[in-house]
Amino acid sequence: MTDILQKAREYENSHITPLEHRPVFHACARTGWCNDPNGLSFFAGKYHLFYQYHPYENRWGPMHWGHSVSADLLHWQLLPCALAPDSDADGFGCFSGSGLSWQGEHLLMYTGVRYDGAGRLIQQQCVAWAEGENCRKSAKNPVISATDLPEGGSDTDFRDPFLLVRNEKLYAFIANRGENGLGRVLLYRAEDPEKWIYCGVFAENDGSFGDMWECPCLLPLGEKTALVVSPMNMKQAHDGRYKEGHDVVALVGSCAEPEAGFRWEKDVPLDCGLSFYAPQAFSTPDGRCVLIGWLHDWKTEYDATRLAWFGQMTLPRSVCWENGCLYQWPVKELDALRRLRLQTCVALRGGEQTVPGICGRVLDMELRIQFGDAKRFSVKFACRDGVFTRLCFDVRERWLYVDTRSDGSKNGRLRRVRLEGVEKDLYLRLVLDRYSAECFIQKGRQVASLALYDTPHDADGICFEADGGAKMDISVFDIL
Ligand code: FRU
Repeated sequence: MTDILQKAREYENSHITPLEHRPVFHACARTGWCNDPNGLSFFAGKYHLFYQYHPYENRWGPMHWGHSVSADLLHWQLLPCALAPDSDADGFGCFSGSGLSWQGEHLLMYTGVRYDGAGRLIQQQCVAWAEGENCRKSAKNPVISATDLPEGGSDTDFRDPFLLVRNEKLYAFIANRGENGLGRVLLYRAEDPEKWIYCGVFAENDGSFGDMWECPCLLPLGEKTALVVSPMNMKQAHDGRYKEGHDVVALVGSCAEPEAGFRWEKDVPLDCGLSFYAPQAFSTPDGRCVLIGWLHDWKTEYDATRLAWFGQMTLPRSVCWENGCLYQWPVKELDALRRLRLQTCVALRGGEQTVPGICGRVLDMELRIQFGDAKRFSVKFACRDGVFTRLCFDVRERWLYVDTRSDGSKNGRLRRVRLEGVEKDLYLRLVLDRYSAECFIQKGRQVASLALYDTPHDADGICFEADGGAKMDISVFDIL
């Protein structure tokens, strides 16, 4: 083990974030900072989640990989730091990448970042094998470097390899910036993970989705395939579907054979909240496509003085394609942790209403709202004394307003998004876990993810409001 890795392991061992200060069922780092989920895979009977990790501070720094394992995707056992920036190929950082089972081994591929002779930061691809708690980096790293790029490809924006096995062949899909400044996904193939061949451009940005693309991944959705990318510098769409800055899009099309390239027929935003980026997906042994994202984005500021740690993952979501729409839903493993707290039917009559027994920052709540003469419905949560987060559904005009004054300041964050698939009744599932809220709208047709780092723990009020008559069926579950 190198000194750099040993130092990281010693540091995290003496600074592990206590259980009571972490989310209850959302993955986060052992200590310090985490961003993107990496190496999401199933190997040797366990789910593995690696992540971008800077153990020493609650802000981004030289990237390591953290590692957790789980039997149910919700209870994560935190293992020692897996990769450190400790080799010539990755001295500046081990950036994002992926993992899978290949020929009986647990193969990882990540982006090694290093300075070249001229002081520029170069990105190249490296492999390692996870062997229990330790990882063995290839002596041949980098296995894909600038010389493997097509003409005009940037060697400073060449990252986040996504491994996939199709027709028994091993592929890597890697984000790159082309000569025109826009993102694209390059395809590589290998017979041996240390020897790669460039196959061509798999997909490229036509300028509709930001500029550079990060963290590509492929979702098998029955007869469809979605290429999910995280574009930088997105422009806000008039219907609010995409937000300015960093966002995530699923490009849905068909892909019989990776080498034939990919054309999408439809773009679907993956999240309509304020905190979602760089998701990664994988297939579970029982054939589900499960996706986990980073419950934050690069643009949203946070108060680093308030927490010892920073960064958490979203709930794992099962993704499927039905009748031309993409749906995301919390994995069924969460159902096993739920205990019914109360179930009731409430008449809403205008004005804010609370319901006895409904409060808290760790719960799962299902709502069905039948509109009488009301046109708008809001649910406000994590509230107390001017602090709140609110989702307001304007069903008549088909808008969703996401409004958060999560730290009580007057300048909250607001987003307005077109509401999809709401004809009559509104179905919501709201999952709260101390530092986050995720709302699944219309059975998962849209999802709003929100990080609540700033919100004090005693801000646990929940209330409802309709601008007229409406009926609300509600079930509240504790999560054990
Ligand atoms: C996405 C990203 C990746 C990069 C990593 C660095 O959030 O910018 O493109 O590999 O974070 O931590």
